[in-house]
Amino acid sequence: MNMKNLKQEKIAEDRGVELNQLKISVENFNFYYGAVHALKSVTMQILENTVVGIIGPSGCGKSTFLRSFNRMNDTIPSARYEGKIVVDTQNIFDKELDVVDLRRQVGMVFQKSNPFPKSIFDNVAYGLRINGIKDRNFIEQRVETSLKQSALWNEVKDRLNKSAFALSGGQQQRLCIARALAVQPEVLLLDEPASALDPIATGKIEELIHELKLKYTIVIVTHNMQQAARVSDYTAFFMLGELVEYDKTSKIFTNPAKKITEDYVTGRFG
Ligand SMILES: Nc1ncnc2c1ncn2[C@@H]1O[C@H](COP(=O)(O)OP(=O)(O)O)[C@@H](O)[C@H]1O
Ligand SMILES: [Mg+2]
Repeated sequence: MNMKNLKQEKIAEDRGVELNQLKISVENFNFYYGAVHALKSVTMQILENTVVGIIGPSGCGKSTFLRSFNRMNDTIPSARYEGKIVVDTQNIFDKELDVVDLRRQVGMVFQKSNPFPKSIFDNVAYGLRINGIKDRNFIEQRVETSLKQSALWNEVKDRLNKSAFALSGGQQQRLCIARALAVQPEVLLLDEPASALDPIATGKIEELIHELKLKYTIVIVTHNMQQAARVSDYTAFFMLGELVEYDKTSKIFTNPAKKITEDYVTGRFG
């Protein structure tokens, strides 16, 4: 066992969990856009097969935080960070880490569904093909499994070759989830995945999240507190780039430790 494993073991022990339950450890993480200090010394652990909800007022750093987990902020010229994010036992900022591998392991779905101008089938197959997979049977199998996992299969199985744009908004978002799942990630990042959807489509996405956490670790940003209360096991409340409080969702919503958390979750500001 190397030093990193020992460190993770210590963190797991301090939190009273098994090492194999600890999926992500954020350690003193700071993020800056030029002079804007967007995340301030965030430290947080995420357990495997749980859903973590990220809540907080607009501009508090939720998206920045989420995008850090698969290094989607890398291309922003003025951006820099300090600290660590460890997934399993690997610091994702290590020089030797391959970002393509990281993004396979840590998949992401955005607020606005963004299917490619391709068929339903080709959207889901996309990640496999760019990873060099050519075996037609394998791809067909994986496309089917992913669409089943994203609860879209029954609605599209007879028109896989039709354009993704022919789907409704809610279906397009489930298609984007299927596309993310096709490369078999371990962590799924969802940034306000239902904010553009009607209540029925939102309900489907929430149901899906319940199913998916059996296999994946999920981090979901939402500005909708009822949604956070419904879908997440743990909730993290951010304000002005700081992690104010992080606890079991039931605790955050019924008996938070801090007054400001209570004010936020009861809708006194936001
Ligand atoms: N690309 C960017 N360049 C400069 N500042 C940014 C950029 N993206 C976000 N910010 C700033 O960082 C802070 C956090 O933004 P963000 O993570 O988008 O918050 P949230 O998702 O909670 O609304 C805000 O002050 C925002 O203006
Ligand atoms: Mg955001």
